[in-house]
Amino acid sequence: MNAPPLTDPFTIAGLEVPNRVVLAPLAGIGNWFVRLQAKRYGAGLTVSEMISSFAIHHRNEKTMRDLLMIHDSEREYPGPIAFQLFGQDPEVMRSAAATAAEQGADIIDLNMGCPVPKVMKNGAGAALISDPAVAVEIARAAAEGSGLPVTVKLRSGQKKGEADGFQLALRLVDEAGVAAIAFHPRSAQVHHKGSPDYELAAKLVDQLPVPVILSGGMSDHDATLAAREQTGAAAVMLARGGLGNPWLFEHLLGLRDEAPTQTEILAELEWIIDRAVEHLGDERAARYLRTFYPWYLDQLELDKATLVAFQQSESIGKVREMLAELGPLTAAAGH
Ligand SMILES: Cc1cc2nc3c(=O)[nH]c(=O)nc-3n(C[C@H](O)[C@H](O)[C@H](O)COP(=O)(O)O)c2cc1C
Repeated sequence: MNAPPLTDPFTIAGLEVPNRVVLAPLAGIGNWFVRLQAKRYGAGLTVSEMISSFAIHHRNEKTMRDLLMIHDSEREYPGPIAFQLFGQDPEVMRSAAATAAEQGADIIDLNMGCPVPKVMKNGAGAALISDPAVAVEIARAAAEGSGLPVTVKLRSGQKKGEADGFQLALRLVDEAGVAAIAFHPRSAQVHHKGSPDYELAAKLVDQLPVPVILSGGMSDHDATLAAREQTGAAAVMLARGGLGNPWLFEHLLGLRDEAPTQTEILAELEWIIDRAVEHLGDERAARYLRTFYPWYLDQLELDKATLVAFQQSESIGKVREMLAELGPLTAAAGH
């Protein structure tokens, strides 16, 4: 495929995206500082974690304060910011999308791919793949409510080997004017396991008149370039591959070749800790960050006891002490 370089800009409904490397929506993770981190390393477009349209509609305090917010520093970098919303009720989505627009979103992204039973049992997420008429209504309502470009992220289908997600993507663009599709060519049934069906993604790229942003399996530089080559997708979306590895954005954009040094990894973890404390305060940050530590620390050669100590730590003060002890060790390792 002869796709333009990842460093080339592209547009979503006329909105310029400065390059073709995108941060995926990541539930419980993709808040303002994770998006900011991706932007610092070059991401052209960042997407929030999925946010309940019902929680926004009912002005849930935690949702409004913690999730539906864009930090000023995110705007120091070029490129749009999308809020990803989920829900199965068009009128609620209309209202939530309007609020998301008021909060500063550039794009409304709709989640039609989440396979988690808690979400699907209400008819939201990947359940919408089996309910295309409602899916189209939701997309229309989001566009009308927000006045913004609407994108949809979905999967290849409900079950392995099915392509009902592919069919829905065509309908969403044709009937609801959806401006881009983020396509994760794995079925809802397999969640995040197995190889994505890049052939199906290539077919979607061929058939859709709007950009296809490819998601799935882009765990490192070479895998990402191979997937792009095979599909010709307009852009690539990094998910698990970017966790604790923002350097992957730089690598894909030709800004850096070398792996991060141990000192850089520790400094980046400290940056994350500082931002989490700014966002959540010491106590909540201490709990919140437990999932973050392994993404960074597994890249260092640490003993198991040290990793466990980080994950069990109940205070940010203790974590900072442990990091201070690691600093000289990694510097001495000469990396
Ligand atoms: C921890 C985690 C949280 C995720 N949360 C979301 C989400 O909120 N919305 C969404 O559309 N996809 C979500 N996904 C799916 C990813 O965006 C992506 O499509 C998937 O991980 C495949 O990409 P990968 O193989 O590169 O990880 C999530 C995935 C993971 C691993």
